[in-house]
Amino acid sequence: MKLAIIVGLFIISCAAKTVRQERSFPDDFLFGTATASYQIEGGWDADGKGENIWDYMTHNKADVIKDLSNGDIAADTYNNYKMDVEMMRELGLDAYRFSLSWARILPEGFSHNVNEEGVAFYNNYINEMLKYNIQPLITLYHWDLPQKLQELGGFVNPLFSDWFEDYARVAFERFGDRVKFWITFNEPREICYEGYGSATKAPILNATAVGTYLCAKNLVIGHAKAYHAYNKDFKPTQNGQCGITISVNWFGAATDSEEDQIAAELRRQAEWGLYAEPIFSQEGGFPKELSERVAAKSTEQGYGWSRMPLFTDEDRDLVKGSFDFFGVNHYTAYLVSAAEEHKVQYPVPSLYDDSDSYTYTPDEWPQSASAWLKLAPNSIYDAFTFLKNKYGDIDFYVTENGWSTTLAAGLIDEDRIRYYRAALNSVLDAREAGVNIKGYMAWSLMDNFEWMEGYT
Ligand SMILES: *[C@@H]1O[C@H](CO)[C@@H](O)[C@H](O)[C@H]1NC(C)=O
Repeated sequence: MKLAIIVGLFIISCAAKTVRQERSFPDDFLFGTATASYQIEGGWDADGKGENIWDYMTHNKADVIKDLSNGDIAADTYNNYKMDVEMMRELGLDAYRFSLSWARILPEGFSHNVNEEGVAFYNNYINEMLKYNIQPLITLYHWDLPQKLQELGGFVNPLFSDWFEDYARVAFERFGDRVKFWITFNEPREICYEGYGSATKAPILNATAVGTYLCAKNLVIGHAKAYHAYNKDFKPTQNGQCGITISVNWFGAATDSEEDQIAAELRRQAEWGLYAEPIFSQEGGFPKELSERVAAKSTEQGYGWSRMPLFTDEDRDLVKGSFDFFGVNHYTAYLVSAAEEHKVQYPVPSLYDDSDSYTYTPDEWPQSASAWLKLAPNSIYDAFTFLKNKYGDIDFYVTENGWSTTLAAGLIDEDRIRYYRAALNSVLDAREAGVNIKGYMAWSLMDNFEWMEGYT
């Protein structure tokens, strides 16, 4: 057994060496790293910043965070932004993806009151990057909604899309002369399913029956309104581009059986199709098979309407095609099965119960320090070739990819090196298969506050 493993590694390392000599990335490929405001900035109430849903949750319900910690100080970027840029220079980055804290710019969420000190902080951060030719890529929303807007329902208030457009316009106006790459939302699944449809991210609403779907609809409409605002009023003079970042891990059928193939497609629709289909597909609107399942189950469950809201023709046309690129956060893969032996009892009703599918991962895939993250073979290739076949020849960016270790691992991170090597080879494989991946952002620039996992 041991011998077999050693021989296996030897073959893999020889193959990797050959590959490295023969292949390379084009000169204009963007290499960078990524972060999120709440995870790094600190300065949670500095200079007029408003409270956001992570401030509120960690201060009022601290025990949802594994080590009872919070992002009050985090990596203290608010005070040490020049050190961040120094690290970027040492790494030789082309680009840096970071997010704006909505409540630092608009303390009450609405655009009537702009916090000029918050704007000044981002101007300093951006200008420091530009001094060294590091291209800033901005995410408008990476999970830290102003608490005032949450109290009005947040993403499930149908007016959310207008509030988001107003905020986006402030960002385009203040930073768009220098920032040419805009991502509206980071990971709609984590916002809507984890925050509204379950209780694993703020605002821990756990509205399992409808939370994910109501949020998904308002989110993609908000994305589209911001995209069109940019396209119409800013792009002609600023010449940048605007897209969205969706988490697309790979979900492949566990077997060739028809049941497993159907389960895998439903799972893909539940995980990311819900957000990608309205924007990137020709038809627009929510994914077909999943919508039909939810409608049928809603009837059986006694609802007088589908728990998944419909798109009007107007909504559908507004959202469809609202992108210049598709940002993908990708980390891992799962096998999908419809079989009894893999059955998991999900809350009824809920997104995963609606999807009639179960996931598992083989024991032999190497495990990171995060329960959900394993090194899965060729998963970038599988995910991106699937997206290209489904949505066409569009521009893609890997906007996050990375590997977690425990504190105890310290600086010994051979398994992280193995992961990145496999990932970059998989990006090259996808590019050789004709997928236009134009950049790669490693997660993260530095250690930071890992949401419910705190600093563990
Ligand atoms: C969320 O709601 C489901 C029922 O819909 C329940 O089983 C579960 O315990 C709840 N989770 C939390 C963290 O409250």
